[in-house]
Amino acid sequence: MKFIAYNVRDDEIPFIEKWGKDNQIDVQYTTTTLTPETLEEAQGCDGISGLQTIPYSRDLFEAFNKFGIKYLALRNVGTDNVDLQAAKDNDVTITNVPAYSPESIAEFAVTMALYLTRKVGYMQQQLRQKQQFHFSPDFMGRLISEQTVGIVGTGRIGRHAIQLFKGLGAKVIAYDKYPIKNSKLDFQYTTSLADLITQSDIISLHMPATDDNYHQFNHETFELMKDTAILINTARGSIVDTDDLIYALQSGEIAGAGIDTVENESADLQDSRSSKQVTDADVIKLSMMPNVLITPHSAFHTTKSVMNMVTISLNNLKALASGNKVDDQVN
Ligand code: NAD
Ligand code: COI
Repeated sequence: MKFIAYNVRDDEIPFIEKWGKDNQIDVQYTTTTLTPETLEEAQGCDGISGLQTIPYSRDLFEAFNKFGIKYLALRNVGTDNVDLQAAKDNDVTITNVPAYSPESIAEFAVTMALYLTRKVGYMQQQLRQKQQFHFSPDFMGRLISEQTVGIVGTGRIGRHAIQLFKGLGAKVIAYDKYPIKNSKLDFQYTTSLADLITQSDIISLHMPATDDNYHQFNHETFELMKDTAILINTARGSIVDTDDLIYALQSGEIAGAGIDTVENESADLQDSRSSKQVTDADVIKLSMMPNVLITPHSAFHTTKSVMNMVTISLNNLKALASGNKVDDQVN
C-alpha cells in the first residue's frame, strides 16, 4: 500500500511520518496543491490525503479515473469545495474528518469576540501606527456577560461555542436550519434567522457553506444587525458578501468583524512556505481596520487538530484501501 498527502505543512510532517512507521505503510508527502496538473505526483499511489479550500473539480476526478486512483481522504471537515457528483461519476470515494477538534474552532471564535469587544485592535493601531502608548476613550470595551450571543449552526463547533460563551456569562440564542430536538444545552432557538440577527450583540457563524446560504449575510442583513454588533465568521467566506461587509463596517451599520474565512480563497493561502505578499484588495482593506480581526483560515490550527486531521485521514485511507467501510465517507 502507498499513499500521498498533498498541501502538507511542516507541522504535519512528524504526524505523517509517525503514522507511516506505526502502520508500516509508505506515505509520501508534498507541499503542492492537488490539481489535475499535479496529480502525476500520485502515480502508483493507492489513495490521496488532501487539505485545500480551492475546488476539487470534475477535471480533477476525471484525472483520478485516468490514473486509477479511487480514494481521496480529506484531512478537514468542510466538503463544500468538492464536486461530490463528479467524484461518484469517476468512482472516487471521499472521506472527511468531521470532528478533529471542534473546540479548536469554537475557542478561536471566542478569541475573536474578546479581541473585538475589548477593542484590542484600536490599542494595537494606536501603538503600531502612531507609536503612542496611553489611555484612549476608544479603548472602552464591553463585557461578554452583558451581551446576547447569536450562534448560527448548532452542530459540533456551534455547540462548543455555546458552552464557551455561556461560561463567560453571555445570554446565548441560536438558529439552525435543522434544530436539535431535546438539546440539553442551555440556549433558546429563535424562530427565524432574522430574529437572531436583530437580537444579537455578537453573531458567530458555524454552519456549512451551501447553495442556499451564499451571501446570506449581505447589505440587508447588516441593516438588520444592531449598529453596536459584531459578526464572527469562522465558517466559510461565501456566506458573507465581502463588499457589503466592508461597506457595513465603514458606514457604522455594524461595529466590528472577526473574519477567519474569506470569499474565493486561493491556493496561495495554504502555501505555508510562501514569502509572497498578500494581493487580495479586500483582505488588505479589512486588515487596516481597527474594528476587524482577519486571519488566514487558521481557526482549526492547534496541535490536537493537526494530529487528528493527519491520523484520522490516513486511517480512513488505509480502511478504504483494505476494502473496509468507513463511517466518515461523504459520497
Ligand atoms: P456540523 O455538521 O457538526 O454542524 C453544522 C450545523 O449547521 C448543523 O447543525 C446543521 O444543521 C446546520 N446548518 C446547515 N445549514 C445551515 C444553514 N443554512 N443555516 C443554519 N444552520 C445550518 O459542522 P461543524 O463541525 O460544526 O462545522 C461547521 C462548519 O465550520 C464546517 O462546515 C466548515 O465550513 C467550518 N469549519 C471551519 C474551520 C476553520 O478553520 N475556520 C474548521 C472546521 C470547520
Ligand atoms: C475545515 O476543516 O473544514 C476547515 O475549514 C479547515 C481548513 C484547514 C480547511
